[in-house]
Amino acid sequence: MATMNEKKTCSQRMENFQHFMWNPDTGQFMGRTLINWVWIVLYYFAFYVVMVGLFALSLYSLMRTMNPYTPDYQDQLKSPGVTLRPDVYGEKGLEIYYNASDRDSWIRYVKILETFLSAYNETAQQDNINCSEISGYFKQKQFDGPQNTKYSCKFPEELLGNCSGAVDSTFGFPEGSPCLIIKMNRIINTFPGKGTAPKVNCTRLDDTSPLDIQYYPVNGTFNLHYFPYYGCKAQPTYRNPLVAVKFLNIPKNTDVSMVCRVVGAGITSDNPHDPYEGKVEFKIRIQN
Ligand SMILES: *[C@@H]1O[C@H](CO)[C@@H](O)[C@H](O)[C@H]1NC(C)=O
Ligand SMILES: *[C@@H]1O[C@H](CO)[C@@H](O)[C@H](O)[C@H]1NC(C)=O
Ligand SMILES: *[C@@H]1O[C@H](CO)[C@@H](O)[C@H](O)[C@H]1NC(C)=O
Ligand SMILES: *[C@@H]1O[C@H](CO)[C@@H](O)[C@H](O)[C@H]1NC(C)=O
Ligand SMILES: *[C@@H]1O[C@H](CO)[C@@H](O)[C@H](O)[C@H]1NC(C)=O
Ligand SMILES: *[C@@H]1O[C@H](CO)[C@@H](O)[C@H](O)[C@H]1NC(C)=O
Repeated sequence: MATMNEKKTCSQRMENFQHFMWNPDTGQFMGRTLINWVWIVLYYFAFYVVMVGLFALSLYSLMRTMNPYTPDYQDQLKSPGVTLRPDVYGEKGLEIYYNASDRDSWIRYVKILETFLSAYNETAQQDNINCSEISGYFKQKQFDGPQNTKYSCKFPEELLGNCSGAVDSTFGFPEGSPCLIIKMNRIINTFPGKGTAPKVNCTRLDDTSPLDIQYYPVNGTFNLHYFPYYGCKAQPTYRNPLVAVKFLNIPKNTDVSMVCRVVGAGITSDNPHDPYEGKVEFKIRIQN
């Protein structure tokens, strides 16, 4: 105890430290001789070279075993997520709020739709093939497409009819009958609907009064020839099929809660843990 509590003066401490840094009696630098330090540096250098080598080797062998076309692990999710365009989130989720007589309030929704649909125009889809003759799933075993890919079906904008932006460049917003677009997220190697084309069904959540809705394509279906999806390496120009919904009789100056479900065999939309599984909920308020 005595030695531990022994007080040293500051100059004594400095002297001790200097002695530790360089000890002229033994030729030790920081407690070791020069040759000792050289060995230590060499040892750690070799040690880290081996470690980096092992790391690179394991990374390399992992990459070798992975199939670049499909993910090794897919979770149990077989019902696709559903998203809405325009995708504008307010405090309580997706909110499409605007004033029909105020252009500034709806033009941003129009811009979002225009930008989104530009990925579906002629130039963007020139590598995709016309699948209108294919009924049922478009299964492809071989990589017959260009550059060792699989074919992707064209989703022509014309299928969206009055909601394609070609007939009505403002998508019905100023008239109070806006077009919204429903998109189903991609899941590799799934066959949604079990042979029957899944379709979109939009209903009001807060009221049972009937809605007058136009669906594009007819009946709001996702044609089966867009499935299965083989992944972005096999189908680099794949475009998700879309369904446009045009709401013709939204009551004005009131909040309307909607849900659009994808209805089809094997597609669930009641997962409490994932509100976007198989459906999308949103609010619309049109003022004038
Ligand atoms: C909608 O916009 C018009 C024109 O700007 C305005 O007169 C009207 O008060 C607005 N309506 C609401 C509910 O804010
Ligand atoms: C298609 O969209 C791209 C942008 O994504 C645009 O540059 C091009 O001009 C569009 N082509 C046509 C024919 O509209
Ligand atoms: C696809 O082919 C069909 C006839 O087989 C034709 O009616 C249709 O216009 C074509 N669609 C496109 C987008 O070229
Ligand atoms: C598209 O809009 C026009 C004019 O508003 C209407 O006459 C026509 O019936 C609509 N098309 C469909 C398929 O509803
Ligand atoms: C949409 O679903 C409701 C019930 O959820 C049903 O009553 C209605 O017939 C369906 N509409 C269509 C077009 O399938
Ligand atoms: C749309 O649905 C109705 C009723 O379910 C059906 O009679 C009609 O053939 C369908 N139209 C198309 C183009 O699938």
